[in-house]
Amino acid sequence: MIDLLGHLHPILVHFPIGILVIACVMIWVQAIRKTETQSSISALLLLGAIAAIMASISGFLLSNSGDYEKGDVLTHQWWGIGTTLCAIILYFFQAYQKIISLVLFVALAITGHFGGELTYGSNYLFASKKKAIPTKELSISAADTTQQKVEVDTSMEVLSSVKNSPFQQEVLPILKSHCFQCHSSKKQKGKLRLDTEDFIKKGGKEGLILHAGNPLKSHLYSYLILPEDDDLHMPPEGKKQLNSSQIAIIKRWIEIGAPFGETAESESLHVMSLQSQAMTIPSDAPDQMRSLDLSVEPANEEALQEAKNQGISISPYPSSNGGLSLNFVNIKRLDSKIWQATRALQKQVLQIKLTKRQDIQVEELLNFKNLQQLNLEQSNIHDVDLENLRQLPHLTQLNLYGTAISDQGIKALVAMKALKVLYIWQSKLSQEGLQALKKARPDVTIVEGKFQFSPPDTNRLKAIK
Ligand code: HEC
Repeated sequence: MIDLLGHLHPILVHFPIGILVIACVMIWVQAIRKTETQSSISALLLLGAIAAIMASISGFLLSNSGDYEKGDVLTHQWWGIGTTLCAIILYFFQAYQKIISLVLFVALAITGHFGGELTYGSNYLFASKKKAIPTKELSISAADTTQQKVEVDTSMEVLSSVKNSPFQQEVLPILKSHCFQCHSSKKQKGKLRLDTEDFIKKGGKEGLILHAGNPLKSHLYSYLILPEDDDLHMPPEGKKQLNSSQIAIIKRWIEIGAPFGETAESESLHVMSLQSQAMTIPSDAPDQMRSLDLSVEPANEEALQEAKNQGISISPYPSSNGGLSLNFVNIKRLDSKIWQATRALQKQVLQIKLTKRQDIQVEELLNFKNLQQLNLEQSNIHDVDLENLRQLPHLTQLNLYGTAISDQGIKALVAMKALKVLYIWQSKLSQEGLQALKKARPDVTIVEGKFQFSPPDTNRLKAIK
């Protein structure tokens, strides 16, 4: 009940404002036109003063609800009390009512302004003008648009392993646009602020919201994927919601350890999350990959430029020296002209990503003799093609998730000597086929689909909480 009264404050305040403004105007109309409306004015002033008292009480209750920072509220609170007193004085002292009504009018405006700041943020009046971000808060780089960025950054600087801050560039803009409204300096719903590293690490009234490496345990992520009608779904029902790629970015950021500073990773969280949707790596798999010492002579600049000009996304292959990863996600038609542009890079290419492509020519892939990792998830790869892929001597990681690969392909898979990690879920492989494969190649980590994305059980989450 007390809560309700508090939450009514933003509505209640409009009554005294409306009534008292009319009373002030009437006082001046009466003075100028020399009419006699004093009894109506007095009635309005009485009504206005009572409404102002009610608004003050509800405002006081709201300020104690914990949603607002005390310091911010105080100015508004004292102006509110002052305005209320002014209305009461005006009711009792008709003699000075012209002067007092002016004071009251100004006080109403000022109180309303500070109240507006609390509700809408300090720059709501001039929202279109960019306000300088206070130094104590994290600055948001101009890279707000990275949310939409699908392409791997292909610039030369990235190839020489430039560091970036995925938090600043990708996570913070999302929090800013979707969460700051209720979780920043102006409001702290659930006693939570999300505008600085320290506050995010501190958590809310239920404790920590971030568990690095574990998205499902982190309320910062798990609340986003609750059903929208769940009380704890964030942002609350009816507010601007995150899209799936924004959710994936936050998930990925937590998965890679929720780094706030710069990381050596050159790929955007968005791209990484696309990959991880297709292949959720069991914790032991990447280490196997990383333990390899991969060193190739660096690619020549012209060759890189030529491939980039064709629209191929190029990034350094993780934990390699000079190795490259090619992604064809932005290529419309994968024809010989495209492959031609990769000729001069064949030695350096250690990874090729052909996710969802229906126009793969396996013969072209065989030119990349150093290939370590091949992503063919949801592509048109067939059992017969696997025979060909056997010719790649260093292929350690192969992603065949969501393809038509069936038991017919097992023989070729078993024969891939270098293979260490295989993603095979949602393919046409039978249970028996899978067992046979596991038996024949116990050294291969087979990811068969236990790691599918599914929203956590709400009840369980509440229990954890
Ligand atoms: C319109 C206001 C509003 C917006 C926008 C909003 N939240 Fe919330 N948030 C709330 C309220 C209210 C609570 C308290 C819910 C409760 O405890 O019942 C809350 C609580 C939380 C909590 C739990 C804190 C704790 O420890 O109890 C987390 C985590 C959270 N929000 C994350 C987010 C994230 C992330 C976003 C942006 C994607 C977001 N919220 C956007 C209103 C909002």
